This record gives sequence, C-alpha cells and structure tokens, in this order.
Amino acid sequence: MIILGIESSCDETAAAVVRHGKEVLSSVVASQVKIHGPFGGVVPELASRKHLEYIIPVIGSALERAGVSGEELDAIAVTQGPGLVGALLVGLSAAKAMAYALGKPLIAVNHLDGHIQAAFLSCSTPEGPFICLVVSGGHTALYRADRDGSSRLLGATRDDAAGEAFDKIAKLLGIGYPGGIAIDKLASGANPMAIRFPRSRMEKESFEFSFSGLKTAAANYVRAHGLPTYDAQAGSVTMRDFAASFQEAIVDVLVEKSLKAAEQFGLTDIAAVGGVAANSRLRERLARETASRGFRLYLPPVRYCTDNAVMIASAAYRIWMRSGPSHEMLELDAYSR
Ligand code: KG4
Ligand code: ZN
Repeated sequence: MIILGIESSCDETAAAVVRHGKEVLSSVVASQVKIHGPFGGVVPELASRKHLEYIIPVIGSALERAGVSGEELDAIAVTQGPGLVGALLVGLSAAKAMAYALGKPLIAVNHLDGHIQAAFLSCSTPEGPFICLVVSGGHTALYRADRDGSSRLLGATRDDAAGEAFDKIAKLLGIGYPGGIAIDKLASGANPMAIRFPRSRMEKESFEFSFSGLKTAAANYVRAHGLPTYDAQAGSVTMRDFAASFQEAIVDVLVEKSLKAAEQFGLTDIAAVGGVAANSRLRERLARETASRGFRLYLPPVRYCTDNAVMIASAAYRIWMRSGPSHEMLELDAYSR
C-alpha cells in the first residue's frame, strides 16, 4: 500500500511517499527557517505564503524521487491539525484537489499522532503498548500509545512546550533560530551544572509539565548578570555553560517523567518523538537511563523527529488499517488546536 503524505502545519512544507507505513520511498522537506529566522519565531502569514509557493513543487519532487505516479498511489494523507490554520489549509487544499482529481481516498491525520507514529520509524519498533514522550515546539506531553495507532494522554504541559522554552531563551540570548538546535550545539561539551535552574516537577503523581518558571528564571538570570559572554572571564558563566545548564533543566524533567510513567504503567518500552527529541543531550540521557533500568528505548532518526511528511503517511497507514479512509473527504476542515 503506497501513501503520499503531506504536511504543512507550521514552517516546513513536506511531502513523502511511504510503502506499508514504514518503507520510505521519498521524503522532501522545504524548510522556511531562513525566512522566519530574523524574526526569532514563525510569522504565520509569511508561513502560509511560502507554503503556497512550495507545496506543488514539493509534492512533485516527492513523487518523482519515489518513481511513483499519482495513479499508482493508494491514498493521500494530510495533516488536518493542530497547527497554524492558514498553513494547514494550503496542504489540506492541495491534498483534497489531488484526491479528487485522481479519484483516490483522503486520510486526515492529527499532527501529534504523526509524531507518535514516528516511533515506528526507529530501527526496531515497539511490539506492544509503550510510553511516548511527545516534545515539540507546540507540545510537550506523555502518552500511553499502542501499535494500532491509538493513544491515551497521561499529562501535558500547563504552559510552554519544551521547544517553545528553547526558542524563547535562544531569542533572549540572540543565538539564532530554531532555538533548540542553537542551544544544543552551544551546550555540547559545556558544564550543565554551572547554573542550577529550577526544575518544575508538579505534584508527585502528575504527568503534567511546566516550563514557564524555568523560562522566567533564565530571563531573570540575564537581567541580574547581563548576557553571558562567549569567552571565559573570572567568576562568570559563559554562554556555553548557560546553554548547557538551561538544557539540562529541561532534559532532567523530561527523562524523569518518562521513566516514571513507564514504571507506573508497568511498560518496558519508551519512545521520544517531536522536534526536541532531536536534542543530543536528551537522546544521550534517555539512552543511558533506560538501559541502566532495563527499559527499551525507541528514538526515530533526527530527520523524522522534526516536522516531516513520512510520519504523516505512516500514521495514515495505521488509520487505514484500523478504520479506512475518511468519508467526508471534501468537507474536511483544518483545526488549530
Ligand atoms: O516537531 P517540530 O519540528 O515542530 C512542531 O511540531 O512544533 O519541533 C520544533 C521544535 C522547535 O521548538 C525547535 O527549537 C525544537 O523543536 N528543536 C530542538 C532541536 N531541534 C529542534 N530542541 C532541542 N534540541 C534540538 N536539537
Ligand atoms: Zn511537529
């Protein structure tokens, strides 16, 4: 079964052709990082305009690289939400038009389900239910997920998503966008203990997260001490140590809560997905701590952590297996939340 996936929920225009939910025939991602970079975050109106410009060439290129014609597709899958409505509508309209013109079924996919399904794009895949940490720019949540594509929310962030915290602090430091990647790079080899930033663990039994206190603490630090410098000066913390300490505060909580969820639900399999799951320190800590405590870890390759269309085609395959395509294909509307 060959599915064309289309993703345009935020600032990446992506299309991919995937066979049987796992075999990637092509994956094309047109990034808008350079366009939004100077603003330190995604500008929704600019994103929609760029999606309009990119969508047809990106889809064409995905089909061409896969060596598959529109007629050979079994279905077309598209992200319906959550995301920026103007951005989502571009992918959704393109998918509807193609499905209608080619007479193919359309499968609507929830963006977060897409991220969760990326767990099946790791080298080995979970065989039973697993704990899934979804960490991206818009979401931070823990799910109990199943192989058939169903999932149950255990707890989400009450305020900022982890990626959002990375992006906002990187903007404050003036070190580039997307902030997560910039902080990850700076933090490499630096001292994560240089500043003891607060870790918000919420109530003891809670799987909820909160990163606004950490963000405020980091901003207060800069207000009190000024921007950290790149060169070591007597008694001061460098930019690299600041980045490592900030990153460690986020990673500590993410790792701790994921392991606690697995213990509490008696599951041995843990996956981490979404843009922040590309973080090298998070990947390293999860690998070490799951191994030492006898859990199995599933991490998608970095290219399938950040937004892509392979995960959308993959999720659509499981939806199809479970319940077939959507019946109100042309009436489908985008949703922001
Ligand atoms: O999943 P994604 O591409 O888009 C959303 O659905 O939000 O995630 C984007 C987020 C951004 O906040 C970005 O800063 C973060 O993922 N991110 C990272 C890394 N790469 C991307 N955060 C930490 N470390 C990284 N290496
Ligand atoms: Zn995403």
